[in-house]
Amino acid sequence: MDLFIDTANVGEIKEINSWGILSGVTTNPTLAAKEGKKFHALIKEIAAIVDGPVSAEAVCPDCAGIVEEARELASLAENVVVKIPCMPEGLAATAILAGEGIDVNMTLVFSANQALLAAHAGAAYVSPFVGRVDDAGNDGMMVIEEIMTVYENYDIQTEVICASVRHPQHVVEAAMLGCDIATVPYDVFQKMIKHPLTDKGIAAFLSDWEKVKNL
Ligand code: E4P
Repeated sequence: MDLFIDTANVGEIKEINSWGILSGVTTNPTLAAKEGKKFHALIKEIAAIVDGPVSAEAVCPDCAGIVEEARELASLAENVVVKIPCMPEGLAATAILAGEGIDVNMTLVFSANQALLAAHAGAAYVSPFVGRVDDAGNDGMMVIEEIMTVYENYDIQTEVICASVRHPQHVVEAAMLGCDIATVPYDVFQKMIKHPLTDKGIAAFLSDWEKVKNL
């Protein structure tokens, strides 16, 4: 399973990218709003850092507006993928953009039916929001499982991005279900790398090495 970072913060992206494990970035208007930078300039900056897809969201409510916005976003850099909300106008825009070779990440997906529609429209990626499903009292991972089964049944090539990740266990469960990608917030990456037994082991090895190194 590939790992994307879910942030628009350049510092966070650079740090996690330096680990050598990052395959892409997802942003959304809420994440971009935290940065206080011009949106297009921010997306260009991010796209130059990461060697992989960078999702930037179109916010127009109508099909023609989404298509126009998406073309502009896609022209910012070769690796920009346009995020489009899962709604009728978004499906129509996705079909047009897919025909032009522009990759779409269909976002705000909460069901296997929405994912099926996104795939038929030609979305390159689909983003089910597991954390928000959990927050609403349902099982976010069940949505991933259903989408993976439907896509596997029909050999659908749309890639599934496990989004709205809240904790490391979401990442493990998505990987166990064979999800293509998880987009992981910075703080969850920090939790994924940490283990108390690793810290304890490093401290013990360092202290024992002190006894050995000058023998
Ligand atoms: C995904 O692409 C979204 O940016 C993100 O995962 C949403 O997560 P949230 O529910 O924590 O806002």
